[in-house]
Amino acid sequence: MAVPLLDLTRQYAQIRDEVVREIDEVVTSQQFILGRKVEEFEAAIVAAIGCGHAVGMSSGTDAQLAILMALGIGAGDAVITTPYTFFATAGCIHRVGAETIFVDIDPVSLNLDPERLAECLRERCRRDADGVLRSAKGNRVRAITPVHLFGLCCEMDAIRDLASEYGLAVIEDAAQAIGAEYPSREGTVQAGAIGESAYFSFFPAKNLGAFGDAGLATCRAAVDANALRLMRNHGMEQRYYHHQVGGNFRIDALQAAILQVKLPHVGTWNAARRANAEKYAAAFEAAGLLEFLTLPATPFAGRVAEHHIFHQYVLRARRRDELLAHLAKHAIGHGVYYPVPLHLQECFAYLGYKSGDFPESERAAAETLALPIFPELREEEQAEVVEVIRSFYR
Ligand SMILES: Cc1ncc(COP(=O)(O)O)c(C=O)c1O
Repeated sequence: MAVPLLDLTRQYAQIRDEVVREIDEVVTSQQFILGRKVEEFEAAIVAAIGCGHAVGMSSGTDAQLAILMALGIGAGDAVITTPYTFFATAGCIHRVGAETIFVDIDPVSLNLDPERLAECLRERCRRDADGVLRSAKGNRVRAITPVHLFGLCCEMDAIRDLASEYGLAVIEDAAQAIGAEYPSREGTVQAGAIGESAYFSFFPAKNLGAFGDAGLATCRAAVDANALRLMRNHGMEQRYYHHQVGGNFRIDALQAAILQVKLPHVGTWNAARRANAEKYAAAFEAAGLLEFLTLPATPFAGRVAEHHIFHQYVLRARRRDELLAHLAKHAIGHGVYYPVPLHLQECFAYLGYKSGDFPESERAAAETLALPIFPELREEEQAEVVEVIRSFYR
């Protein structure tokens, strides 16, 4: 039996009528650019996430770009992030002209490691005579971008403590983490409502996916939301009067309308993903596979309900590449997120990093794979995935 890594047609079948109605409404209104549907979606996100403000954007990438531009981060600045993430996280930092400083991941959570972050701030950065924190290249360190990879929140208390100690902004990459909860010292908070600002991706394959590209930026302060709205629309408030140079980072009204239909379902869909993860854990254990597989960590389980939203179900596997070939042979959907850590990407060679600099990211890239986890995955399909993996190791 073939098992897809993701099948969005099953989700569409649940919401088709409502989506078609919404599309028809937008097309009939001819309000394609910004307007009521976008504002309603932004308000729904603020209510769902508990963030201060939300500004719909054309993609997660553009949301990150708009945040960096609105904060005035550019040439002469540096931003700290993880090398084990999707390309855009560092790509945007590069595009605004800033330096990317990479810090390795924690091998269990696969997220930015706060201890290594502390070490980086202490040993790889320095304060100059004016008290400005600088990278080894002399750039002013402005922000940290923790990535809630695969739908699991980073250790945000520790990261925020370091950010405030060193006077840095926290820009969360929540692209994969809509609905994920974090048990902060102040209580339960959601990804995207923890840092000064954050961004989500609504790429179709995400837990909340548009019918094309879409994204969103969040922030705490109204003044920052205004700056983001300016950046989103070529720096203009009044048409053809440009206060700043921004871009066209606008979310389509059609996408906002579709996303608003989907948003109320995300909690249920995330819970179904988590239930699938629990079924995998039980089945891998029952099949005696835990000596070959290291299952995803769920460090906040029991402390918050939505601790991990399993955008991807990523585990470590012995003889990973041979297993990948075996899965392909048996038509089991799989993915590798991500095969090359960013410090080893050709386009970032100029940063001067080399193989061995971030061993945990390199090891994760070599040892992990993703299995089907989408909410509508059928029981017999999941059983087939486990059986094919069992047949490989036994
Ligand atoms: C971790 C991470 N950051 C940033 C992005 C960029 O989002 P988008 O594809 O919507 O531009 C993505 C999405 O693929 C992502 O997974």
